[in-house]
Amino acid sequence: MQNFEKQIDEILAKLTLREKIGQLNQQETPVAANAEAFKEQVRKGEIGSILMSVGATAGNDAQGTISVDFYNELQKIAVEESPSGIPILFGRDVIHGHKTVFPIPLAMTASFNEELVSKSYSDIAKEASNDSVHWTFTPMLDRSVDPRWGRIIEGPGEDPYLGSAVARAVVKGLQGENPSEDGKMLACAKHYIGYGASESGIDYHRTEISDYTLNNYYLPAFKSAIDAGCMTVMSSFNDVSGQPVTSSKPYLTEILRDRLNFNGFVVSDYDAVAQLIRQGVAGNDADCAKMSINAGLDMDMHDKLYLDNLENLVKEGKVTVDTIDEAVRRVLRVKFIKGLFDNPYCDKKEIDIEKHRADAREMAAESAVLLKNNGVLPIDKSESVALLGPFIYERRTLLGSWMLDGSAEETPNIYEAIKAKSKGSIEAVNGVDLSWDSAVKWANLCDVTVLCLGESWTSTGEHRAVSNISLSSDQLDLIKRARAAGKKVVGVLFCGRPVEMEGVADNLDALIYAWHGGSEVANAVADIIYGDTVPSGKLPMTIPRKATHIPIYYNITSSGRPVNNYYGENAGECYVDSIPTPYYPFGYGLSYTEFKYSDIECKNSELPLDDIKNGKGFTLCVDVENIGKFDGKEVVELYIHDNLASMMRPIKELKGFKKVLIKKGETAKVEFSLGYNELGFYLANGDYVVEPGEFTVYIGENSLTERKITIKIKG
Ligand code: GLC
Repeated sequence: MQNFEKQIDEILAKLTLREKIGQLNQQETPVAANAEAFKEQVRKGEIGSILMSVGATAGNDAQGTISVDFYNELQKIAVEESPSGIPILFGRDVIHGHKTVFPIPLAMTASFNEELVSKSYSDIAKEASNDSVHWTFTPMLDRSVDPRWGRIIEGPGEDPYLGSAVARAVVKGLQGENPSEDGKMLACAKHYIGYGASESGIDYHRTEISDYTLNNYYLPAFKSAIDAGCMTVMSSFNDVSGQPVTSSKPYLTEILRDRLNFNGFVVSDYDAVAQLIRQGVAGNDADCAKMSINAGLDMDMHDKLYLDNLENLVKEGKVTVDTIDEAVRRVLRVKFIKGLFDNPYCDKKEIDIEKHRADAREMAAESAVLLKNNGVLPIDKSESVALLGPFIYERRTLLGSWMLDGSAEETPNIYEAIKAKSKGSIEAVNGVDLSWDSAVKWANLCDVTVLCLGESWTSTGEHRAVSNISLSSDQLDLIKRARAAGKKVVGVLFCGRPVEMEGVADNLDALIYAWHGGSEVANAVADIIYGDTVPSGKLPMTIPRKATHIPIYYNITSSGRPVNNYYGENAGECYVDSIPTPYYPFGYGLSYTEFKYSDIECKNSELPLDDIKNGKGFTLCVDVENIGKFDGKEVVELYIHDNLASMMRPIKELKGFKKVLIKKGETAKVEFSLGYNELGFYLANGDYVVEPGEFTVYIGENSLTERKITIKIKG
């Protein structure tokens, strides 16, 4: 990457202290009434970045259409009228789409297809950068095991290895090889760190995370984003074990910069600097600003505490000019890397939206997870279909939360999608309008009942935790009535989060988890139902039997007593009143075809530790044969267990996956390499260690696979 330090030094030398602080100040797009005052601030060089939205929860509220002319006008003032002429950095929450909405990030993670995730974000960057957006606040990398948390939909689920793959894919898709190129955007890894552990799944709540857990479960995805070239990080609202991240030098400097080698800039979350008062660690606004800037938080989002307090803090000697200069240097470096000084304005181009919609349809299809199929899917196009449930005409919910620029009106619903493909009759009964009795009558008369169920987008996203993760009672009742009608019953779930599965899957012949799958999810589901697409998604998160079993996740360590609910070991002894095994485990998903795995082969099952440290690895492979009737893609998953280590290690840890297309009757040889980066773990102090000893390696279709082999690192 080009070196801009000389230009940065030259700019820095000319800036007044207030102009330097202006670069550290991000304000949100002004409402019309404040536009002139806002422009005056820009003219003075007080606004280094603009948050292109209004309100603290931009993902929940309509944000209106972006006016490129307005942002170009603001940019022109900054470049031509402010003393320094430094361009403004425009940022927006382009989380999983712009005009074309892709599946929510948790759904895209379910594709287990890094390349396709990258392609999706490349399309997204093309669209958003064509609307003045330089910088998006994504990927959201908060590992979480609590589906009550509304923001579970934005993240990569329960596994750090999968989260690291998603982090890499999103950053590469958004930034390409050079984020200053046309159609590219700056990424932002958020929310650093531990936000997904909010207690009780309640948003913004406290977290309790040990250093050991933080290092092995929460940090890896951020390391992956930084290693992939992500140049901005957003600090999180939460505290970690009593220390607010916003004002934590250990987290923002010692770990993020000194250990993870991050050299971009950190932006706060919305008003997070000001909230230090509520968190009880700062007595006033000036303390908030002092603690945050001295901790290593470079840019203050929205509360203006930097703009209003840093000059005095420097005069009082509580903040040094060097600290300010270092933060400004980081911001300017990113602006240079984005190419803002050469191309500050947005010059709208033609975008191939139809291609993007086709890509969104492909992504939605690969994100959908076939959880059950008693042979009823795919259905024949000649079959008559009773289409029932509250989501058959739904459009907006399919787009999910954090959808700022898509259009519900332009989103096909499942009724239209099925109708477009079917050659048979379609009887659609939207339970919201009619009694379920008339709905069930059609279930009796048609060959197949397709139930379109799920949860509204409004119960997902920021500040949208739920205490009850089950489908609504009327939907559960409809499933039972449809079942009673005795015909084939297919369930399609348009959900953001994993929902309680007891009472749902039991009564269905087939079940497709379609998520809030974006602009083209209805068409993708119709493609799957009629067999034009063979499903290939796998779960990025465990689906529980009951909400009361939460947290339930696959990468747990072993208890000292012989009970491990997740893996069914004496699971009946865990509770006296229910059995907390997963309803569907991490990594689970079916296909229309069937894959047969050979035993695992390992050419070199023992290696000296020194060889591992010098880059050698174990080579393991399986043959996967497609013995079914369809060509299909299979996600082959590799897990390890460190049988004997200096710290307790998870019973299984995902350390490799490959999604391969295998034509019917053919066999694919799938090979993995396990080396230094896969076989170690982090100690509480952050040291990464690979210890000698035996490892059990599992390769299979999901986290419950028992196909295994032992390898050994010799001391
Ligand atoms: C919100 C969210 C964050 C988002 C930011 C800007 O409160 O926590 O994810 O990027 O503010 O909208």
